[in-house]
Amino acid sequence: MNILIINGPNLNMLGRREPEIYGSETLQDIEAKCNQHAGSKEINIDFFQSNYEGVIIERLQTALDQYDGIIANMAAYTHTSIAIHDALKMYSCPIIEVHLSDPKTREDFRHISYIEPLAACVIAGQGSDGYLQAIDKIEEIINK
Ligand code: DQA
Repeated sequence: MNILIINGPNLNMLGRREPEIYGSETLQDIEAKCNQHAGSKEINIDFFQSNYEGVIIERLQTALDQYDGIIANMAAYTHTSIAIHDALKMYSCPIIEVHLSDPKTREDFRHISYIEPLAACVIAGQGSDGYLQAIDKIEEIINK
């Protein structure tokens, strides 16, 4: 099973970015946790981050038909990007939306998600464990 985990802007700054909200782990720590979790299940993970909307869209376009599931933390683009929504709309495999924090309990501008209508489920407010839960969720959906 192949899963693409795709991370949006500013997530490369985890560890020093608002640790009271996002925790002290770096994105590399989260990638290592995901690889360890997936490796025990013989799942292959491709982990990607970009601060650029167009780069994320191009990654999604080239990834089409290559993955059994997508885990998407589009960060601030979650709340703004119809272009990323449109790119994800081409996918027929399960998409799981993940956030470290719970955007719905934060500022009003974080309450809209352009990913949510396309997501099989949303996992928010679980910190980095949310990524592991998303891997399990894709496995569960695929094996149903
Ligand atoms: C985030 C929540 C978003 O609202 C925010 O813009 C982020 C991170 C999260 O993981 O909690 O950059 O996606």
